Amino acid sequence: MEKKVTKIGVLTSGGDAPGMNAAIRAVVRTGIYNKLEVYGIKRGYQGMIDNDIFKMESTSVANIIQRGGTILKTARCKDFFTTEGRKKAYENLNALGINGVVIIGGDGSFRGAQIFSREYDIPCIGLPGTIDKDIAGTDFTIGFDTAVNTAVEAIDKVRDTADAHDRLFIIEVMGRDSGYIALHSGIATGAENILIPERKTDVEGVVNALIEKHGRKKLVNIIVVAEGEEFGAVELGKVITERIPDQEVRVTILGHIQRGGSPTCFDRLIASRMGYAAVECLLEGRFNVFVGILNNDMHYIPLDKAVKKKQRMSEDWMKIVKILSS
Ligand code: F6P
Repeated sequence: MEKKVTKIGVLTSGGDAPGMNAAIRAVVRTGIYNKLEVYGIKRGYQGMIDNDIFKMESTSVANIIQRGGTILKTARCKDFFTTEGRKKAYENLNALGINGVVIIGGDGSFRGAQIFSREYDIPCIGLPGTIDKDIAGTDFTIGFDTAVNTAVEAIDKVRDTADAHDRLFIIEVMGRDSGYIALHSGIATGAENILIPERKTDVEGVVNALIEKHGRKKLVNIIVVAEGEEFGAVELGKVITERIPDQEVRVTILGHIQRGGSPTCFDRLIASRMGYAAVECLLEGRFNVFVGILNNDMHYIPLDKAVKKKQRMSEDWMKIVKILSS
């Protein structure tokens, strides 16, 4: 028979994402509402191994819903992927009587949770928290909406100066293996081209389109490139400068600005809904799943199905980019 969950831990793992604090708040307050003891685990799985665990109260999460980053801090913990690391983590949780854990993070964090819950009798519930939005089984991840809006705001600003100088800007946005931020922010800012890892970059095609635009004096152009795209923003800048010498080119890398900042209303909302659902899962005995939202409904997907989602590149989207930026 499954044991009743009485004490739960919560941690954030991997790259931080705006809205993680809102999710922590929801887990803590829903847990306490249901008479559970709730423990914060610092720096992701590292805190489990180092026994950096503390009891949380309702007041521990006051005034954090609007804050970026994560009050629990985060880490990418290699030790948790060793047998000894997980054993130490289990011993620490067991000593405190923690018999359920909520993990807020990306697919790598979910993989860790899956291995851990298979080895030890501690149910784990995942909440998708990543700006990259690259987890299969959910329409949204906590942090994507904020990150993409930050990118949009920054690209709009770059366009002002691009316009003032008649320049071409190549703007790199985040997304190690995924082009979601690039595609969404690129369409929303009227980018002339968008390059993403899911699609082979036709450098010749990109240059030829610019030559054609240059010929009809369309000199202000924005090309949004995902960080994980194979050719690279800087390299592309060099090629364009060589091929169109009288076109001024600048490369801007937005970087970690996209990971910080106050979460949008949307991210706060899904983080709150998902945090609440995670505790409900533990109470209902629904173990070793992660919480996803599909068509605005909560879904519970087995942790072992948490694979990186490669976006299905709809050719329609690229057609929209081409037509609307002509
Ligand atoms: O969290 C996802 C992400 O922001 C990716 O888009 C990016 O490639 C990576 O994390 C950067 O990680 P780090 O901050 O560890 O360099």
